[in-house]
Amino acid sequence: MNIAVLPGDGIGKEIVAEAVKVLDALDLGLEMQTALVGGAAFEVHGHPLPDSTLRLAKSADAILFGAVGDWKYDKLERPLRPEQAILGLRKHLGLFANFRPAICYEQLVGASSLRPEVIAGLDILIIRELTGDIYFGQPRGRRTAIDGHFPGSEEAFDTMRYSRPEIERIAHVAFQSARKRSKRVTSVDKANVLETFQFWKDIVTEIGLQYPDVALDHMYVDNAAMQLVRAPKKFDVVVTGNMFGDILSDEAAMLTGSIGMLPSASLNATNQGLYEPSHGSAPDIAGKGIANPLATILSAAMMLRFSLNQEHAADRIEVAVKRVLSQGLRTVDIHSVGTRLVGTAEMGSAVVTALKN
Ligand code: IPM
Ligand code: MG
Repeated sequence: MNIAVLPGDGIGKEIVAEAVKVLDALDLGLEMQTALVGGAAFEVHGHPLPDSTLRLAKSADAILFGAVGDWKYDKLERPLRPEQAILGLRKHLGLFANFRPAICYEQLVGASSLRPEVIAGLDILIIRELTGDIYFGQPRGRRTAIDGHFPGSEEAFDTMRYSRPEIERIAHVAFQSARKRSKRVTSVDKANVLETFQFWKDIVTEIGLQYPDVALDHMYVDNAAMQLVRAPKKFDVVVTGNMFGDILSDEAAMLTGSIGMLPSASLNATNQGLYEPSHGSAPDIAGKGIANPLATILSAAMMLRFSLNQEHAADRIEVAVKRVLSQGLRTVDIHSVGTRLVGTAEMGSAVVTALKN
């Protein structure tokens, strides 16, 4: 089992190191190879996704990814910005199905900004289409900065588009996932305004006919954003496009207490997958050793389950994470009175210890 390890920028290096520590402790004989990506790769190779990194990722059974991005690259022309590395990996590897489970651990009920009764027992799955939509349409606009200014353009646009097969395959993923859960799918769109999302809604409805055992409902994205904080437990599987999924998954993350808790899996048609925390590179806290590594550690568990067929090892990681939370250990993002504040490395080590006992 070959794993490409791509830590990236900011807190990426710190949190991935902890996930690697946990994977090592499992003694599964994983072959892990590390490469540069994002701003870190730009510094050395002049490109955020160098050929060597892309080749390593393509040949791996799975990819463990940290995070990319730093404000200091904001002035670069877009193709050279760190974010293009993760977008490029998603596109080149065809990782169209993004799973973002938002689970509220009972130990963290108090860490959310919402009332405990609203989120206790929350377990929803956001399925975000990841290789289409306005993210991969036709951009046009300010490309190159000269002395911090962008000359010569009075408008900018990005095109939103989806093709039938793109919607069909993500709809199948959602219905099949729902079959393993409570057999309910909410498809989120903006069909009242956008043609792209009327098309989305029609095709999801059509595919739904093949899954008569799964209940399907539709919701506009603005309403979905509201319902997510009003009564999040009413949702089970949520399927949506790339852009809405980006926004709603950040919102859902906060229901769990912290975005530092939300793992993700991005799969292609052959179940090759990229696993990353749903949060970013957090340059403001990078290098301080305070970032929460649990989203990345839980992403490693998803990797074992989805791409490497190591269900048991995945369970072990998840149990160990719960145990560490029960012991009262908290990084600063989930810390509250009466719990013990720990740093990134201490949290990772505690998970390793919990695994072994
Ligand atoms: C995410 C991130 C990325 C996205 C960025 C870093 C390109 O926000 O994975 O949610 O927008 O998809
Ligand atoms: Mg995002």
